[in-house]
Amino acid sequence: MNILITGGAGFIGSHLALRLLQDGKKVVLLDSFHPHYSRERKQYHIEQVQQHGAVSFYECDVLHKEDLRAVIQQEKIDTVVHLAALPGVRPSLEMPSLYIDVNVKGTTNVLSCAGEEGVKKVVFASSSSVYGEQVGMPLAEHMANGKVLSPYAASKFGAESLCYAFQYMYGFQVNILRFFTVYGPWSRPDMAIGIFLRKLLRQEEISVYGTGTGRDYTYIDDIVNGIVFTLESKHSDVYNLGSHAPVLMTELLDELRRYFPAMRVKQEEGRMGDVTSTWADITKAQTKLGYQPSVSFEEGLERTVVWARKHAHLL
Ligand SMILES: NC(=O)c1ccc[n+]([C@@H]2O[C@H](COP(=O)([O-])OP(=O)(O)OC[C@H]3O[C@@H](n4cnc5c(N)ncnc54)[C@H](O)[C@@H]3O)[C@@H](O)[C@H]2O)c1
Repeated sequence: MNILITGGAGFIGSHLALRLLQDGKKVVLLDSFHPHYSRERKQYHIEQVQQHGAVSFYECDVLHKEDLRAVIQQEKIDTVVHLAALPGVRPSLEMPSLYIDVNVKGTTNVLSCAGEEGVKKVVFASSSSVYGEQVGMPLAEHMANGKVLSPYAASKFGAESLCYAFQYMYGFQVNILRFFTVYGPWSRPDMAIGIFLRKLLRQEEISVYGTGTGRDYTYIDDIVNGIVFTLESKHSDVYNLGSHAPVLMTELLDELRRYFPAMRVKQEEGRMGDVTSTWADITKAQTKLGYQPSVSFEEGLERTVVWARKHAHLL
């Protein structure tokens, strides 16, 4: 298996690359170093991966289809894990067209290059945001109906639809994975846990938005396991990858207070684009892939705090 990871310098991509290297796979990374967060941080991720084995890295934008094609041809890629995207709900409210460009057109380029170059399998990183604000919980795969709250979520839902179109056109295997709020060492600096840890380590006040909110926080190793199971599977499908253990914001704050007893919290109004809560139904991934999340929130947060204290300069 020659595996290309788009967005390979990012949080999830670099963890996945490390795991695949450990499993003896040939891994190729591609990333544009989009300035959503710092290039230095992403270069650090690549360096960490390259310390564990020979990995080719291409600085390449998925919006440049011929550059993408050249990488797939040169490296004889048969499997693509497409993680490259502009993530995050709030910036997508400000820059909707940019999100549609990267997440929809970029995904179209990946899918069409994959089809034209004979790639056998594409794994697409979708998001729990495709469920929008729902009354019933937990969220099962069939419940996504396109009624989303942000251009980011719409871009992921649209890109999922393109996955089905290109699967039909080219007959390759496509697996859509809906990740639920991923955290852990190297967590993205623009997500709640990343922001909180950066501020807490600087003794700054943290802000929480809205009340009664919760997220199905999923530890990075569990997400990576889910992707690896998907790479081993032989059938196209869509799966939730979550922990099936939602954590209220109040519970997250209580956990953080154990490490930062002097923590100061400012309560702010809820923000547009954010759903109130998420809770993954993971029955399908459990039964069809053998996926089983194994890191509790308490344990995962402890590992993340230890990492953040050691790498405060990177946060
Ligand atoms: N982290 C989460 O909680 C979460 C939840 C749901 C879905 N996802 C999805 O998982 C994927 C990976 O997320 P992440 O948290 O690792 O984010 P990340 O920002 O750390 O990684 C994404 C990478 O894509 C790269 N990229 C952006 N635009 C590009 C382009 N045009 N060409 C090539 N590379 C480009 C960025 O430079 C970045 O390194 C994304 O598709 C994201 O939407 C993440």
